[in-house]
Amino acid sequence: MSATGSLLSDLECRACCTRADPAGPAGVCPTCGQALLATYDLDRLEPNAWRRGLSGREPSLWKYAELLPVAATESIASLGEPTTPVIPLGAGAEFAGIDLLLKDDGGLPTGSFKARGMAVAVSRAREIGLRRLYVPSAGNAGVALAAYGARAGVRVRIYLPEDTPAPMKAAARGYGAEVRLLPGTLREVGAEARRAEQGSGSFDMSTMREPYRVEGKKTMGLEIYERMSPDRMPDAIVYPTGGGTGLVGMYKAFSELRQLGLLEKAPRLVAVQPAGCAPIVRALREGSPRAEPWESPSTIAPGLLVPAPFASERVLEAVRGSGGTGVTVSDSEIARAVGELARRHGISASPEGAATYAALPSLVREQRLRAGERVLLYNTGSGLPFVGAAWPGRDEPPSP
Ligand SMILES: Cc1ncc(COP(=O)(O)O)c(C=O)c1O
Ligand SMILES: [Zn+2]
Repeated sequence: MSATGSLLSDLECRACCTRADPAGPAGVCPTCGQALLATYDLDRLEPNAWRRGLSGREPSLWKYAELLPVAATESIASLGEPTTPVIPLGAGAEFAGIDLLLKDDGGLPTGSFKARGMAVAVSRAREIGLRRLYVPSAGNAGVALAAYGARAGVRVRIYLPEDTPAPMKAAARGYGAEVRLLPGTLREVGAEARRAEQGSGSFDMSTMREPYRVEGKKTMGLEIYERMSPDRMPDAIVYPTGGGTGLVGMYKAFSELRQLGLLEKAPRLVAVQPAGCAPIVRALREGSPRAEPWESPSTIAPGLLVPAPFASERVLEAVRGSGGTGVTVSDSEIARAVGELARRHGISASPEGAATYAALPSLVREQRLRAGERVLLYNTGSGLPFVGAAWPGRDEPPSP
């Protein structure tokens, strides 16, 4: 067996400080039921040597092995998770003097950033002996789990809302997963999946209900740091927020880098949500410690249809702790942004990713982004599964 160099030391609940052993299967905090997060022996890393060594490693998320939870290289189930591009969209008057960039995760295996979390979580699940996994998903996470489950040789069952885009249902089935379709949003689907699986011996891979998907998402922040620090770090990262795991992951990356003395200041994290389902933005505006469930949620962006984010305390901590903010966009603004990103920039964005572009005018108008700042939009997924989708406000033939 060859060691990855992982410095994983513990699992920790930030709400009640309970610690848990990472050696075996772990779900939520055994004391209070909130999310468990991984901690690392950062003292054992020589920060500057590590930083310098990164450029000589394979350009894949596994290059950050010390800060990931997988201990043995043999455990890794990889589909070749490449470092994703950062594409300049321009500066100057068009964007109110903002230097605008877009990080595009559409080229990851299965077409979305969900590959990051699932590559790491499935590898770790296999390492600790789990053989059957399930997940309730809005689509992308299910497809990613199906693919990595196939790669790792573990059995997978996916619970999807009935109205999940057809290409995602077909893709999950195509990878050999068992797919169950249920009525309602992710909230109802998740509750029913957990009820149905109780006592089945299958492990719940729901985001933040197991500790390792967020570790994979952390690599979004690590890649931004490696590529852009020290001189080109973005002042703000604009992120399409559903469950908010990406925000928690990036914030965790920047916090660990700060602990290592490699980063002075984390970028401000800006949560974008659709006006029809914005529990995190509402909690930010109201100053609440957690998000309350959103009644009658609706949006054309399936990954943002998360009316009751499980780990909202952690998501709010990430946005507030970074000095960030939250903003909503309408479905027609999202649809228009998908078209504009395709026509003007050649970018195939998911509606979720395009929501970040749609949020720019109001962020600028309200001075939450300012002239001279460098701002990174996060496109979390490819637009391909949505080609031909008939959206209200879609102003052009479907994007490429
Ligand atoms: C393409 C896409 N973007 C964003 C999200 C929201 O992700 P997060 O849980 O990190 O908020 C999802 C979740 O399904 C998604 O599929
Ligand atoms: Zn706890």
